[in-house]
Amino acid sequence: MSEVVVSPPEHVFRAAINLPGDKSLSHRALILAGMAEGESRVANLGPGEDVAATAAVLAQLGVGVDDGVVRSPGVRAWRDPGGPLDCGNSGTTMRLLAGALAAQPFRVTLDGDASLRNRPMRRLIGPLAGLGANVETSPTGTPPITTGDRALAGSEIEVPIASAQVRSAVALAAIQAEGESIVDSPPGFRDHTERWLGAFGLGERLSATRFRVTPGAVPPAQYVIPGDTSSAAYLWASAAIVPGARVETLGISLNPGRLGFLQVLEAMGARVEAEVTGAVLDDLVGDVIVEGRSLQATKVEGPLASATIDELPLVAVLGAYAEGITVVADAADLAGKESDRIGSTVEMIRALGGGAEPAPDGFSVVGTGFLESGTVHAAGDHRIAMCAAVAASGATGPVRIEGAETAAVSWPGFFEEMEHVWSSR
Ligand code: S3P
Repeated sequence: MSEVVVSPPEHVFRAAINLPGDKSLSHRALILAGMAEGESRVANLGPGEDVAATAAVLAQLGVGVDDGVVRSPGVRAWRDPGGPLDCGNSGTTMRLLAGALAAQPFRVTLDGDASLRNRPMRRLIGPLAGLGANVETSPTGTPPITTGDRALAGSEIEVPIASAQVRSAVALAAIQAEGESIVDSPPGFRDHTERWLGAFGLGERLSATRFRVTPGAVPPAQYVIPGDTSSAAYLWASAAIVPGARVETLGISLNPGRLGFLQVLEAMGARVEAEVTGAVLDDLVGDVIVEGRSLQATKVEGPLASATIDELPLVAVLGAYAEGITVVADAADLAGKESDRIGSTVEMIRALGGGAEPAPDGFSVVGTGFLESGTVHAAGDHRIAMCAAVAASGATGPVRIEGAETAAVSWPGFFEEMEHVWSSR
């Protein structure tokens, strides 16, 4: 296990940064390109281990992925891998492919590392069964999961949670079904898959949450992946903690389901500017500036909690530096992420001398205006490792992060980039 010691920034920093390719969009580009017959190209593919896991699984199915070029015989000619597909640490790989593979003429098993083997997969069964799919999990509702060997029929699918991954699994299965489908769920999810399928003529938005899926073949395409919004969030949070600091992140995904954290930053008192500069297949891209000012506590709940799901540990850190008590609620799903992020977030704040309390659906943090030197265990969770580095932004001393190597799941080179930002003027 590797250890990184992060010392607080020595001066007020100002930086403009290009982020590595967005993880959510990289998975989707690889999977859609892998489903298309022919050659697709993916530029600025995310460099993390999770995205590499999706590429490796596609290779097991007979799809060539080489330096951003994807060559595929098409989803109807994917080969039976003859053994389990290894999704590594990546829930997105497993859940999206469980849908994409549901109509294969063979049974296929998706498995992963010890952390992924603890994550909730039962949520896929009902929605995919609605299309006629036969998805099985282990008796505890966790991986390995088995799918395939069913002809699918279009249907109206109500996903009970605001999960982009479950909605995407349904949509990727439904494009292979006989007849149209409707997917609906509570709001607050990232609708990347829906936007890209819509751009390919394979579906249409009916309301903020309802999406009609029209079966058809995914065409080969050219994808240019914008910068990763969830990675940008670490830099924004750091700037928000240091009054007068400023971070500009260029060319990132501005999908509405990714922007909850910007609303939270604004509500807490940071200055936030976001400008849409373009789109990739109807999914918005743009620049964001965040400037630090003194922070006030906030409450994050309802659809805002869903649209902030990956950034909620950062909300805890900001809460520690704010005035008042910050509360996160309606986020029970946090317990099923790469770690139990309710527990690991609370432990991180406490390890740095802050006050935090867990709740069944979130946590609360007492704002003292500072955090102290201490040691944080990353708990095998890339987002906790990176969040602990952000916590050093205003700390009274260095933060030691044990298991820091897990940051490479989404952002290899994160610690170097953070140092670079902090040394910029
Ligand atoms: C993701 C959706 C979210 C998010 C995850 C990535 C995606 O998960 O937490 O990091 O790419 O679709 P849920 O769908 O479980 O909310």
